[in-house]
Amino acid sequence: MASEHRLQFRHAVDDDWPEIFAADARAFGSDAPRDDALKANERGRIANEDVVIARDPALPGEPLVGQAMYYRLAMSVPGGARLDFPGLTWVSVAATHRRRGILRELLTRLRAKWHAEGHPIAALWASEGTIYGRFGFGPALFADDVRIDDRQEMRIPAPKQSQVRYATADQFIQVAPALYERWADVHPGVMLRDELWWEDYLLDDRPSARPFTTGDRQYLLHPDGYATYHLDSTAPGLPAARIEEVVAATDEAHTELWRVLSSLDLVVTTTGTLPVGDPLRFKLVDLRGVKVVDHYDTLWVAILDVPGALRARTYARDLDTTLVVDDPVGEAGGSYRLHIADGTATVTEGPGGTGEIACAITDLGSLYFGGVDARSLAAAGRVRASSPELLTAFADVWRTAAHPATGVDF
Ligand SMILES: CC(C)(COP(=O)(O)OP(=O)(O)OC[C@H]1O[C@@H](n2cnc3c(N)ncnc32)[C@H](O)[C@@H]1OP(=O)(O)O)[C@@H](O)C(=O)NCCC(=O)NCCS
Repeated sequence: MASEHRLQFRHAVDDDWPEIFAADARAFGSDAPRDDALKANERGRIANEDVVIARDPALPGEPLVGQAMYYRLAMSVPGGARLDFPGLTWVSVAATHRRRGILRELLTRLRAKWHAEGHPIAALWASEGTIYGRFGFGPALFADDVRIDDRQEMRIPAPKQSQVRYATADQFIQVAPALYERWADVHPGVMLRDELWWEDYLLDDRPSARPFTTGDRQYLLHPDGYATYHLDSTAPGLPAARIEEVVAATDEAHTELWRVLSSLDLVVTTTGTLPVGDPLRFKLVDLRGVKVVDHYDTLWVAILDVPGALRARTYARDLDTTLVVDDPVGEAGGSYRLHIADGTATVTEGPGGTGEIACAITDLGSLYFGGVDARSLAAAGRVRASSPELLTAFADVWRTAAHPATGVDF
């Protein structure tokens, strides 16, 4: 658009950051990082060259009017391998400059950079459900916010000696990274945390970084997992327990951590977030003890390179078919032969195999972590298969050994 030609788009430099922090806080109704530790941590996790900003030279002070950037992250994919990916984040356009194509220009530049860097996938957490499909991202993972009724009882009897204990933050950080890695080995979609992400996690719990009505974070450790929660005293009376994370590498650790969390005394409510597929309700004597209060999309995935992405994960069954992918935004579209044998995919350009599956690149992103059923997408007219049998087979290949989970909201 004509007005955008006079905007300046470029990578960030150090001097841009006070405005970047302020613009992000303004857009999302949060506080800009208040102290040097938080600022240094954020800066450590995002390099200037991974940020694109827009400035308006026609206005006094050439204000920053748009920004988009990415974390360099890795996540577990089905089968347990780790995949590096750009995690799109801190996306905002000034309210004074919306709907003039600034977001489109920022993302076009970032996608070109990801393409040049050879990333097979990109991912994000979306603020709204209608923005990112046009940029090639499909909703891939989902979660439920739940309220847990008082004093739940587990069907599995408690062990004679509980392995769960409270820990200090110092004790927690000695063991949590290894437990988290083991959790990512089991569940696909988990975003891994390096030292700076763990530092951020701990910084988040300083009294200066949380509301004064929220108590210290509580840490529970088990040999195969951990859980964290806060007690909130926003309303008069008993506090509310807010479960922050349950990271369990075994079913037993999941059971024993939830045994403690679902029967806390002297709390008015217990709330938390469960990845879709979490078995908690089936472990309770009363499965209605877990009430879903909200259901939403978490991770959105864009496939940037179909063969590269599909080769990185493993599959639940054999398949040999033509996959026709429509990619109006990027360069990943085309006709591929998808040959899956013994859990491994070989993807070659051009048709081959038996029958044909067709879908948009966003739908392939939705399927990638096994969190979306291809039959639902077909019923919605998004995936088309040349026969019902092929659709059933195609739906089966994505199934994963354990349900996907995301780990971190970025
Ligand atoms: C979302 C936001 C970044 C859009 O920026 P923008 O510069 O106004 O977007 P653009 O003008 O480049 O729009 C690009 C396309 O996205 C569409 N779009 C933009 N924002 C949209 C929204 N909130 N809902 C639906 N569609 C949207 C536009 O209609 C346009 O579509 P088209 O090109 O197919 O016609 C901006 O509104 C914003 O900062 N919102 C608050 C923060 C936020 O939600 N950020 C996203 C974080 S994940």
